[in-house]
Amino acid sequence: MATSPLHMLTTLAPAPDGFTRVHLSKRHLLSGPVVVLVPDLATLGAVVPDYAARMQGIALTLGPSMQLAQISPVLWHVQLDITQVAVAAALAPGWLAAIAIADLATQKLFAVDTKAERTERQLQLTRHDYNDLTKRLLAQVHDLTAAKNALGELNQHLESRVKERTADLAQANTSLSKTLDDLRTTQIELVRTAQLAGLGSLVAGIAHELNTPIGTALTAATALAHEAHTIQTQFASGQLGRKALDQFLQNSTDISDLLERNLTRAAERIGHFKQVAVDGGSEERHRFQLADVVSGTLSFLAPKLQGTPYHLTMELDHRIEMDSYPGAISQVLSDFVGNALLHAFAGRDTGAMRLRTALRDEATLELTFSDDGKGIAADQLPHIFEPFYTTKFGQGGSGLGLYIVYTQVRDLLGGRVEVSSLEGQGTHFCVTVPLVAPRQRLR
Ligand SMILES: Nc1ncnc2c1ncn2[C@@H]1O[C@H](COP(=O)(O)OP(=O)(O)O)[C@@H](O)[C@H]1O
Ligand SMILES: [Mg+2]
Repeated sequence: MATSPLHMLTTLAPAPDGFTRVHLSKRHLLSGPVVVLVPDLATLGAVVPDYAARMQGIALTLGPSMQLAQISPVLWHVQLDITQVAVAAALAPGWLAAIAIADLATQKLFAVDTKAERTERQLQLTRHDYNDLTKRLLAQVHDLTAAKNALGELNQHLESRVKERTADLAQANTSLSKTLDDLRTTQIELVRTAQLAGLGSLVAGIAHELNTPIGTALTAATALAHEAHTIQTQFASGQLGRKALDQFLQNSTDISDLLERNLTRAAERIGHFKQVAVDGGSEERHRFQLADVVSGTLSFLAPKLQGTPYHLTMELDHRIEMDSYPGAISQVLSDFVGNALLHAFAGRDTGAMRLRTALRDEATLELTFSDDGKGIAADQLPHIFEPFYTTKFGQGGSGLGLYIVYTQVRDLLGGRVEVSSLEGQGTHFCVTVPLVAPRQRLR
């Protein structure tokens, strides 16, 4: 069986990883127990004469079946088939000095593994593993440190961000509440301005109302003075006849009547004016007859209605006496009438308003005001008492009228105001207030 030794090596492959091929001296081979793989025992004898007397271990040969024979007390011959050889090589125990291959052609021995090498290799592997492990551990430690640092930084960053944000928020809060304060002040000022504007138109109404009677009275007084002067001249010159005296007496009586009538009317108007409180926004509290305040207010509103196709009917309970704020009631009425003219009847040929005062119970007044104008759309109705809500922006609306009505009724008069309206079918306001207003302003 002329198997080449190279062939032998190939048949050993695949041997366990890492087997090396080194030259092995005979001395080396004989220095300890070995496993030698040889084509046959004769070849072994050619390479190592007297091997049977000198070698320890196992001489392996290949054959179809496994056989075992003792060559000397320390040397065995084992015949294996090729797969068994591979297994044997793989399992070669550590105490063997080497697994050797005898090369017949060169008459040299090759060790495919030596004990020292194996140990060295294992050491190397272990060292390598150890280094690797150390490296990995170091890398992990490094990663961990980096992560920890990053986390610390992030934490610090977050902390300062949170601090910054908190400061920002606090500042925003302060400026918001300041803005809110400003808004409130502005709103109060606007409401006051609107009240003053209302007062302005009230004063204009009063001036108009007083103009006629006082003007007439003035003319009459001038005429009377003229008559008196004439009669005095005639008397001084002794020319005063009976007829002239009669005429003068008649004229002066007529003029006096005229004077009286007009001055009375003026005085009445002034009385009304006092009734509705000189300053429209005044919080002066009085005992008063409601009917007086209502008629007083309406007499000032009359010029607004004059020359329009709109009219107002009243149904007043003349017994109602109140201890309250006539200025506020007057203001409410003016706003209702003003709104009817501005909103309800705008562009209409006719319009009727109806005002009614009655006792709801012995301590409560119910004042209702309705018009048969265009009404208020359902989506607008919830907003009409809001400050600055107007559908006539830039056309005479400020959106404060009903807001003032609402606050005066609620805060000063201690009552409430309700509205009901259907688009196209007019609007109905109902104010209920106690006859005796609360002692203190509610807000
Ligand atoms: N009698 C009414 N008929 C129809 N709409 C009305 C009437 N009264 C008030 N309104 C509506 O309510 C809104 C708010 O009224 P108001 O507060 O007095 O503000 P302004 O009269 O300045 O518009 C008005 O713009 C109008 O749309
Ligand atoms: Mg208004």
